[in-house]
Amino acid sequence: MDIKIELKPKSERRTTPFKPSEPLPFGKLRTDHMFMMDYESGQWNNARIVPYSDFHIAPGAISLHYGQSIFEGAKAFQHDDGEIYTFRIDKNAKRMNHSADILCIPQIPEEIQIEAIHTLIDIDRNWFPLQEDASLYIRPFIFATQDSLGVHPSNTYTFAVILSPSGPYYAEGFTKAIKLLITKKFHRAAPGGTGSAKAAGNYAASLKAGEFAASKSASQVLYLSADNRYIEEAGAMNHFHIDKNGTVYIPEFTDTVLRSITSESVIEIQDKLGVKVVQGRFAIDDFIKDIKEKQITEAGGFGTAAVISPVGEYVFEDGSSIVVNDGEIGEITRHIYDYYTSIQRGKIEAPKGWNRKVERKY
Ligand SMILES: Cc1ncc(COP(=O)(O)O)c(C=O)c1O
Repeated sequence: MDIKIELKPKSERRTTPFKPSEPLPFGKLRTDHMFMMDYESGQWNNARIVPYSDFHIAPGAISLHYGQSIFEGAKAFQHDDGEIYTFRIDKNAKRMNHSADILCIPQIPEEIQIEAIHTLIDIDRNWFPLQEDASLYIRPFIFATQDSLGVHPSNTYTFAVILSPSGPYYAEGFTKAIKLLITKKFHRAAPGGTGSAKAAGNYAASLKAGEFAASKSASQVLYLSADNRYIEEAGAMNHFHIDKNGTVYIPEFTDTVLRSITSESVIEIQDKLGVKVVQGRFAIDDFIKDIKEKQITEAGGFGTAAVISPVGEYVFEDGSSIVVNDGEIGEITRHIYDYYTSIQRGKIEAPKGWNRKVERKY
């Protein structure tokens, strides 16, 4: 793919304004450039890297009215050799195309998505943060641009990638277990819907649930299936729980659960981690009973942003709650976190193809 590149004038800032000793926020900073590519007349073209700036978009653009918009979230890390590596970026590209299919958006070959991301990182590599626990958060997204008030798939789109030099998701680090609200009031997805896609509208629909959780002093909702029987997701993370024998349970990837790359990775390296992982449908009633009887000893959420969010307490709407592992982070949860983040940072050998080096071309 030929990518046209417009560089920012040399006088512009080329690195983060944070000193290595200062904590870096998650998702707030941007780098100098962004990648863009347009879909028109049945094909993707005009690939370009331009200075990070506002978009021009028609007020009647379909994405603004009907939410035909999808995104991805990935990370890159700097290893001890000083090079930057994206982590499992092929999985994100593949999932972007899965979301595209569900939202009637034209797909983009995975290798083209990866080339776009790697070229952008290469151009803005000076922005890689120097903090020890930092990463470069990668946000690719596609949105419908046709100016039309009819409800139908757009005939034009923009694919864009922006980068955010970021500190850890939880500023205090991997030190605290969160609370989740168990409720039958809000659902994230229903069979036959868009639950397995990273569709913008899924996240808009989760905001009210998030506010409700906060009003009950929980960080997020533990989403149940639409029939209120099974555990599905933990806010914008896959849910997991661990029993007293050390087996890790993750809800099956159905059409109401996002196929988390973190979950998939934990499943793939279960032998190396020394844990057994089982996927299935887990009834909420059994889950609550097993926590009370201490059959379940650890729980949490898997996702790129935080990697693992340990859960120490499940709150009910009436204010009562049940506690897991005395509200503390469990040993197996901590082991998975340490092993996984060491793979991401190149401290432990990664399975083949997981870490892809960003070549120096510019
Ligand atoms: C709804 C939902 N579930 C799960 C995840 C975790 O997926 P991943 O591990 O690929 O980040 C995310 C985040 O991407 C999400 O938005």
